[in-house]
Order: sequence, then structure tokens, then C-alpha cells
Amino acid sequence: TPLERIRNFSIIAHIDHGKSTLADRLIQMCGGLTEREMREQVLDSMDLERERGITIKAQTVRLEYAAPDGQTYQINLMDTPGHVDFSYEVSRSLKACEGALLVVDASQGVEAQTLANVYQALDNDLEIIPVLNKIDLPAAEPERVRAQIEDVIGLEAHDALEISAKTGLGVSDVLDAIIHRLPPPEGDDQAPLKALLVDSWYDTYLGVVVLLRVFDGRIKKGQRIRFMSNGAVYTVDRVGIFRPGKQTVDELAAGEIGFLTASIKEVAETNVGDTITDDKRPCDKPLTGYKESQPVVFCGLFPVDSSQFEQLREAVGRLRLNDASFQFEMENSAALGFGFRCGFLGLLHLEIIRERIEREFGIELITTAPSVVYHLYMTNGEMRELHNPADMPDPVHVDHVEEPWIEATILVPDDYLGAVLKLCEDRRGRQKTLTYAGNRAMVVYELPLNEVVFDFYDRLKSVTRGYASFDYNWIGYETGELVKMSILVNEEPVDALAMIVHRSRAELRGRAMCEKLKELIPRHMFKIPVQAAIGGRVIARETIAAMRKDVTAKCYGGDVTRKRKLLEKQKAGKKKMRQFGKVEIPQDAFIAALKMD
Ligand code: GTP
Repeated sequence: TPLERIRNFSIIAHIDHGKSTLADRLIQMCGGLTEREMREQVLDSMDLERERGITIKAQTVRLEYAAPDGQTYQINLMDTPGHVDFSYEVSRSLKACEGALLVVDASQGVEAQTLANVYQALDNDLEIIPVLNKIDLPAAEPERVRAQIEDVIGLEAHDALEISAKTGLGVSDVLDAIIHRLPPPEGDDQAPLKALLVDSWYDTYLGVVVLLRVFDGRIKKGQRIRFMSNGAVYTVDRVGIFRPGKQTVDELAAGEIGFLTASIKEVAETNVGDTITDDKRPCDKPLTGYKESQPVVFCGLFPVDSSQFEQLREAVGRLRLNDASFQFEMENSAALGFGFRCGFLGLLHLEIIRERIEREFGIELITTAPSVVYHLYMTNGEMRELHNPADMPDPVHVDHVEEPWIEATILVPDDYLGAVLKLCEDRRGRQKTLTYAGNRAMVVYELPLNEVVFDFYDRLKSVTRGYASFDYNWIGYETGELVKMSILVNEEPVDALAMIVHRSRAELRGRAMCEKLKELIPRHMFKIPVQAAIGGRVIARETIAAMRKDVTAKCYGGDVTRKRKLLEKQKAGKKKMRQFGKVEIPQDAFIAALKMD
């Protein structure tokens, strides 16, 4: 296809504003899909994604649009994930496009996630077409939202389209705008091959599949290609496109988006953001890369039933095949047995991986408290990364500790602003700006990430009844008064409950943890102290009183069956107990204790 008849775009939208519905409509209007296929959400293909209503893997579809001008256009629609944890996937999709549709629910308005993605699109010089969706709803206020797009984003919105992706109203105007308002790609199909590696994943039938955008030159079967970052050379087995099913094509030329397979064994051999070129006739300079996606949140995953460790090993290995940003290494905890220390892009990523392990592999998990990556500056001048609070060295060897900070943008209706400000202040936040757009406030705070990973989203949701939206950017590392807090049960430290906290918050956290454990740990024949300590200093303490009588004593008289039942129940409960010195702690206690609230 000649360049002037190609358009590459993505859809930017806040969760639930109608991105998938619109994508399906566009696919349907460009022919090909049956009603039955329509019913399945074509772009979000993973079950879990559909359930959570979020898109994880960026995917792409090629459409053929027979425009009213009599020409047929090749339109490549790249799907982008809507959530902040996956912003690196957004950024790579945007780099492969010339334009974007900004879909805003006309009954809701602009949300924080939308902002972040729009700014990324603007940074990449993308042409943006604002689209007001859901105008069929009685609550739709297109004029107000139009003004909001101009006020908050600073984007010209007088020619924003008004549509209903659900009824189909106005959707043909969207296709028309894609053709007329978005620029065609630029490139030279005679120049040496230069393509961007947008994404890669493992396919059971084809092996590693690479999604790519060709900028210059051509790529076809049999060609020897080279990945510029590591010099690896492969022979292309197949090139193809998604429509949305895979379809083999003869070649992909400058301006086009598609996939290749090349007997690549592991996803780890492919670096997202890499430049793919011809081995014999390479291009002189690689494309400017992406920022690599680094895990920012770590936690331990342990099987509740320790005999499932091997299955867990298998599960994390399999998930890693398709998700290079998920990291893991083996961990041995006195409290929880064998498991894995895992790294994630954010909390949602963590949740998704955890749920997939439980659901797809049938392994019940204990998740330790999420922790961020700290930088330890040692007295000998060395810098160490700390991923696990249990590994914190003796403080005498540590000169100072740095922790990651983020800049959070929160959009919230007026009524809940007070609650949001209080939450941010409680979390050591520093307010940067506070502005209004209509009856919504936009507040920007700098916050330490370790205060956010605990339960910030949940708290934010509950104090605003779900009306706030939240997004963040990294700002970097800063020195903080951070200390390791240990939890001791009957004088023994429990490694799985250790955490890094800011000194000013230690007492509060410590007290909360001790109170919780007091509830969760059953009484023994003796008194059990539960303590929180920093170094050798106890900062909080609770005592679990000793049991007074035999449990069965309360089964008055001689009801033997009842007595037996109770004993059996105790025995079953035992299996899920962990021994700490003389104390038995039920597995459930860990799960509950690690759920901070
Ligand atoms: P994510 O994939 O989670 O980012 O969500 P999305 O933006 O793709 O939203 P989706 O297309 O799944 O739509 C969310 C909900 O809004 C669904 O229940 C849709 O049926 C509904 N919806 C989408 N477009 C319209 C519309 O034009 N009008 C009305 N009334 N509802 C719509």
C-alpha cells in the first residue's frame, strides 16, 4: 500500500470510557466480522482482562477501509492499555503511530489516566482527535466535557466528534477523521530495513511472535535480520498481520505494522524498543529507544500448601515467558517456606500475576507486603539495591537510604477534595498544585512510592467513593529516614512480616500490626508477647494471654461426637500452622496480617 493510503493510530481512553466498544465498531465497519465474533470483545482477548475490564497487552489490528473517495485505505489500530502500571506499553504503541483518538466519556469527563496518555502522545508529536463518546446517555454533557478538554488538557476541542460507540452513531465520522485529519506515515521502502520492535510474546504454535512497525525498507520471509541492541541474527520464517486473526502476508513495507516469527526461542531474546534491521544491509542508526521497563514493586509469593512449590516454580516460569517485565528469584522464608521474590511494574501488575497463578495454575498463594526498591548507601561507599526488607543489613553499615518518589495527579469532585488532601498528607505527601476545572479539582502531590504501594489506591477509592482518578510519574530517589521494622512473636523475629518504614510512621504501623496479630494468633498454654521493633528497640507491644482451659472443656457433659469433631477440626487446622519456636501461627494469620488497611 502506498504511504498516503496508510494510517496508524491508537485509542487513548480512561478505563470504561468505551475504547474496546469503539474498536469493535471500527473493525465491524471495515467488514469481516460476524455477529458472533462481535459479541466477543475482539481486542481484549485474555479472560482475565475482560473480567477486570482492562487491557494489558498492546495488540494491533489491520483494517481495510473503503472510503467515500473511492480509495481503499490500510488502517492499523493499535490497542493501548489504560492503566498506569502499563504506561511503558502505551509509550511503545504510541511510538509506532502517527495519530491517536482521545476517547472521553461525555457523561464523565477527563480522568487522570487519560491525561498521562495524552501527554505521552503529545510528546511523541502525535496528531490527536478528541472523540466524545456515549452521547446517547441522558447524562452526557458534550459541551461541558469539550470545555474541560480545552481547560485541563489544553487541546483544541471545537471539532471534537460526538459519537455513541454503542449505537454506532457518528462512528463513520471517526473513520473519516482518521483518513483526513491524521497524517500518513513517512518512510522510504527502498532504504535499508529499519523497524521498531513494539512487543513480543510466546505463542504455543508459532513460538515467539514479534510485533513490529516498519519505518524504512521491507521485510519478508527468508530475510536475515539483526536485532541492533544485541546483534542477534535470525532468518525470518513468516511475516503477517492481525485482522484480528493472524494472516500471513508476503512482506511488510515502510509505514506498515505487523508481526514476524523467526525461530526465536524465548521472549527474553527480544528487547522491546529495539531496532530490527537487515543483516547484510543494515541501517546506520537505530531508532531512539524506549525507557526500559523496570520492576518497581517487589513482594514474596509463597504457596499456602508448601507441597505446591514445584508447581509454583512452573507457573512463574510460564508467566515470565510472556512477560519480560515480571521478575522472580527463589526465596526461603522461615515463616513461609520456599517461594519466590517477585518484581512487578506496579500493584495492578502484581494483582494480575497473583490472580493468574491462583486461577490458571490452581495454587493458593500468600503474598507478602509489597515493597519498593530502596537504594542503600553503605559506609564503605558502595550502593546496594534492597528488594526485600528481610535483607536489610545492620544499620551501622548503612550511611543513608534513598527511596523512590512519584508525582501523583489526582482528579476528584470538589466534595471529596478534603479527604484526598488528608490522605496525601498522611502519606508524607508534598502538595505541588491545586487547580479546578468546573466542579472537579486536580491536585498534584509528590509522594514516596512506599506509602503508595501499601493501600493507597484502596484508600483513595474508599474516601472518594470511587470518584477519584489517579495516575503517577516517577521523579526519582530521595534520602529518607527509613528503618527496618521487625515483628517478633514470642521474642522470635518473623521474617515475612519485616518491613521498611519511615521513622515517623513506624510506631503507627507497628502498633497496627501488633494489634492485628493479637487477634489472629490463637492462644497457647503460655503468654505470647507480640512486638514491633526497630533495631533492638521495641516500639509497640501486645500480649496474647495464655489459654485458661482445655478447649474441649466447653463441650459440657459427654457429647462424644461433638468432642471428636472439635478435635478433628483442630487437627485439620494444624496442617495450615507454621511453627515459630514454641508458637504456632496459622497460615491465615499471615495472609490477614499482610493485608494492611
Ligand atoms: P477498558 O478496555 O477497560 O479500557 O474499557 P474500554 O474503554 O474499552 O470500555 P468498553 O468499550 O469496555 O466500554 C465500557 C462500558 O461502556 C461497556 O459497558 C460499554 O457497553 C459501554 N459503552 C461503550 N460505549 C458506549 C456508548 O457509546 N454509549 C453507552 N451508553 N455505553 C457505552
